[in-house]
Amino acid sequence: MLRGILSVLFFVFSLGAVEAKSGSFEILKPESKGVYDEDYASIVIKRLDASLQKVSIVLADDVIIELKLGEKDRDVYCKTINLKLGNNRVILVGYSADKELTRKELNLFHRSEVYEGFVDEPSGYKRNFFHINKNEKLCKSCHNMNPDKNSLKKKHISPSEINSRDFDILENPEDSNCYECHKTITYRKNGHAPSVNFLCTECHTGKGGEFNLQDEGKSKYLMPDPIMGRCFSCHEGIKEKWFSNTSEHGPLRSGRCNKCHNPHSSAYEFHLRKPIWDLCTTCHSEKATGKHVIGSFVFSRNEGSHPTRGRPDPSRPGRELVCSSCHNPHGSNGIFLLRSKGKRAFNVCQRCHKK
Ligand code: HEC
Ligand code: HEC
Ligand code: HEC
Ligand code: HEC
Ligand code: HEC
Ligand code: HEC
Ligand code: HEC
Ligand code: HEC
Repeated sequence: MLRGILSVLFFVFSLGAVEAKSGSFEILKPESKGVYDEDYASIVIKRLDASLQKVSIVLADDVIIELKLGEKDRDVYCKTINLKLGNNRVILVGYSADKELTRKELNLFHRSEVYEGFVDEPSGYKRNFFHINKNEKLCKSCHNMNPDKNSLKKKHISPSEINSRDFDILENPEDSNCYECHKTITYRKNGHAPSVNFLCTECHTGKGGEFNLQDEGKSKYLMPDPIMGRCFSCHEGIKEKWFSNTSEHGPLRSGRCNKCHNPHSSAYEFHLRKPIWDLCTTCHSEKATGKHVIGSFVFSRNEGSHPTRGRPDPSRPGRELVCSSCHNPHGSNGIFLLRSKGKRAFNVCQRCHKK
């Protein structure tokens, strides 16, 4: 009984301790229990106590980032941190010259539709939007929150090799005022052209779509979900081709290209969220063995399996055998998305096994 009362008391006290506007500093951004699709978040703190000199940001695996609050007339300090998939517990510890003053905690969830276990956020977490007047007001005094793209120098490019329309890119992307706070978004090896060039509003039109219509007005940089209309606005011609296919793939038809592709940048080829084989087997784990290739072959009586990776692909010189050697993830005119025409699965064998 006493223990119960004590733990209630402790709970009340600990609530007091994490309340935003207490202690030697305030966390202006982000809110705790936020959900992130990208792998970074920005931490912005405001000094409340003149003796506060340093804030340590403690991440998992004892990674510590030190924020020195050196400048005399400045009370707001900012730092971008990287997020790992799943929950990221971030501890912020404020110090004066000789002792610890305040300790606060943030929990931020990085989700992904193609990494098992990280598809859905835990209950109590939610997606917060940043770009509304109330938030931008906090940053306005030091950051330009009203981009005037027209004043930036541009150059015209015609990227005909990827069958894309012509468009203007910034001569120097670092001049974009999105750059300072969002430079992390293009750091992975394969950057996608519109993102690397900071043409963010090509996709972030501020409008919602079928799946996030209820979010419209919550951010001036919202993107339509499904996003495909924006993708096809540059990648011209492929819509007609893909949508006239007789064999369809659910994730493509729903228009959510971003399920498989990262629209900003990626460590993998074709801006994919995972290497191809891993991506396909995330949703089709039972096909990993390749048994289905031969097991379903009409003339086959054996239990043999067919390689699905780890060999050169005879039909695509220079590339490895993967699921997409035989299947086109965007649709085809064969059955089961096979890269062959007609109703017979074994037509595809001829791509690599010439008689
Ligand atoms: C008192 C001025 C000031 C205010 C107010 C301010 N910032 Fe900053 N911010 C800066 C400065 C200066 C930098 C450059 C890095 C540095 O010197 O700390 C910066 C850098 C950043 C960065 C990049 C950090 C990194 O690790 O590269 C982000 C993100 C950021 N600010 C976000 C914000 C947000 C969001 C707000 C409003 C909630 C905000 N800032 C309010 C002054 C400010
Ligand atoms: C002062 C820093 C700052 C500047 C400048 C800035 N952003 Fe942001 N933006 C943020 C923060 C903070 C978030 C919340 C996510 C996070 O923690 O990184 C955010 C979130 C977003 C989001 C997700 C939707 C939302 O509203 O939360 C989009 C899209 C976005 N920014 C686009 C842009 C674009 C485009 C520009 C340039 C025109 C821009 N941002 C300029 C700080 C900034
Ligand atoms: C080709 C289209 C496209 C371009 C260009 C683009 N984005 Fe995005 N962005 C998206 C989509 C789609 C999402 C939805 C989340 C996802 O798929 O990861 C998104 C999500 C975001 C988010 C939210 C991530 C989170 O943690 O929840 C931020 C922030 C963002 N974009 C910033 C930017 C910035 C800054 C630029 C310019 C450098 C940019 N985007 C360019 C399509 C785009
Ligand atoms: C503003 C024009 C523009 C928009 C919008 C755009 N792209 Fe691109 N995309 C390009 C350009 C230019 C390239 C070639 C350079 C590169 O790889 O980044 C490209 C390349 C790609 C590639 C790699 C192609 C290859 O053969 O390696 C993929 C995949 C891709 N885009 C997917 C998308 C998706 C998915 C969307 C929507 C979320 C989208 N793009 C929206 C201009 C655009
Ligand atoms: C189920 C996952 C998946 C979805 C959904 C998806 N893609 Fe792809 N995409 C891939 C894979 C895998 C490749 C690489 C194919 C290969 O091996 O040649 C690719 C390649 C591409 C390429 C490079 C050239 C080509 O034509 O193959 C472009 C452009 C592209 N995708 C755009 C899109 C657009 C636009 C959408 C949404 C309408 C989309 N993708 C939806 C998986 C996907
Ligand atoms: C996000 C989950 C997801 C990913 C990733 C994914 N698929 Fe699928 N796939 C589905 C769903 C759902 C269906 C069944 C519904 C449909 O196609 O309409 C399907 C169906 C299929 C089919 C059967 C189509 C038919 O005609 O019956 C094939 C073949 C296939 N996928 C191949 C692939 C390949 C190859 C990849 C990797 C490039 C891949 N899938 C990646 C979700 C996914
Ligand atoms: C060497 C060619 C080849 C490779 C590689 C291959 N497949 Fe297939 N796949 C086929 C053939 C042939 C069929 C038709 C089977 C039938 O007739 O039932 C098929 C059918 C499918 C189907 C739909 C049939 C069903 O039973 O649901 C899915 C889903 C699928 N493959 C996914 C994959 C995935 C995921 C990979 C990579 C791990 C992969 N395939 C690799 C040739 C291939
Ligand atoms: C995209 C290319 C490709 C396609 C299409 C393809 N194969 Fe293969 N197949 C391979 C490769 C690569 C190997 C491995 C060759 C080696 O190890 O030397 C292989 C090996 C085989 C083997 C020997 C298996 C073993 O365990 O050694 C058989 C049998 C076979 N394939 C049958 C088929 C049949 C039936 C189809 C049509 C349903 C088919 N293949 C379609 C590329 C392909």
